[in-house]
Amino acid sequence: MANLSNQFAAYRTFRLPDRDLLNLFVPEIIIMKKYFLPAVSFIVVLLVSLQFFRPRLDDPPVTQDFQAPKAVKNILVRACYDCHSNETKLRWYDQVQPVYWQVAAHVRDGRKGLNFSNWDKLAPADRKAKLWEAVNQIEQGAMPVKSYQVVHPNARVSPKDLIVLKKYLTSMIHDLPEDTAKINAFEHQRKSLVSVDRQKLPKTLNDITYLPDYKNWQVISTSDRFDNGTMRVIYGNDIAVNAVKTNHNNPWPDGTIFAKAAWDKLEDRNGNVTTGAFKQVEYMIKNAEKYRSTNGWGFARFKTPKLTPYGKTAIFTTECMNCHKPMKDNDYVFTFPIKN
Ligand code: HEC
Ligand code: HEC
Repeated sequence: MANLSNQFAAYRTFRLPDRDLLNLFVPEIIIMKKYFLPAVSFIVVLLVSLQFFRPRLDDPPVTQDFQAPKAVKNILVRACYDCHSNETKLRWYDQVQPVYWQVAAHVRDGRKGLNFSNWDKLAPADRKAKLWEAVNQIEQGAMPVKSYQVVHPNARVSPKDLIVLKKYLTSMIHDLPEDTAKINAFEHQRKSLVSVDRQKLPKTLNDITYLPDYKNWQVISTSDRFDNGTMRVIYGNDIAVNAVKTNHNNPWPDGTIFAKAAWDKLEDRNGNVTTGAFKQVEYMIKNAEKYRSTNGWGFARFKTPKLTPYGKTAIFTTECMNCHKPMKDNDYVFTFPIKN
């Protein structure tokens, strides 16, 4: 008997440390007790304190709001104005950190590239170019920002909305000949400064000769690039213009040529913008068979008034192709992606 109770006593003394041992086998309990609650409190404290660290986001004055027919305007206000105007309307859930951080960054970067509240800061041709770019971004699914759409389903641009926007844009093409006249006048002036020897036109390594005639083609788009301060004019030859008129521009027919010329952008103290030194002219020449290896397009670039052919080897076209690749569904052309 004594022996047995001793055994019990031994067993009992063994039980006490056993509770800790048991905990080892049920790690969740330890995690709950030791880590979970402190972790939750830590996160709560962090989130609460984060609310006090807020990047500044104010609404600078609207100098001139973008004007358009109501149907057009409404779509842009609903889908874009939160990030592309000075009339940002944040919902309560946009204001909670860390979401607010991202929202503020979006608004800051968005306004930099496109701000409907300072429409007067853009030259008329640039306004057109910005709108083309905007519709382009929507069509590519890049805008409005995806994560934003998830929490603001109202910002979605439906296929019907897109048609409204495109109709508005195509109605703006009509005033392009005016631009053509202006640019041609400017070019005329320039010719007295730089005369190209027509007998020895420069040629790129992929065998494309400089085409001086582009200056007489239709200007189909103008734009300026804020990042490197250049102004660009895009011309299309008759085949290109016809293809647009008859809606046969995807794929573009053989013989289509685009030229894109770039100048320095000069701006005086009063905000008047003029073109400065000529930078380069680029071509895209469509011939599905001949240029099969470069997506059906012959690419060429001539730099400075000397028209130096660009490219150390014939592979330079890879650089062009890579950057034009996002426009694959539009036959690699950025301009005129608008299909009705
Ligand atoms: C949640 C904020 C947000 C919304 C909403 C939004 N954008 Fe943007 N957008 C941005 C940001 C940020 C950038 C710059 C960075 C980038 O390109 O992703 C940008 C860039 C752009 C650019 C390029 C501007 C340039 O030249 O640098 C265009 C065009 C544009 N957005 C059009 C639109 C249009 C059109 C809508 C509405 C249908 C829209 N965005 C809605 C945040 C937004
Ligand atoms: C960094 C990106 C990038 C590279 C590299 C590039 N392009 Fe482009 N290209 C563009 C964009 C964007 C446009 C649309 C017009 C604009 O915004 O200037 C364009 C437009 C053009 C156009 C007018 C037709 C159109 O697609 O709208 C021609 C012609 C052209 N590029 C030729 C070339 C050639 C030739 C090269 C290579 C030597 C080249 N590009 C390299 C981005 C690029």
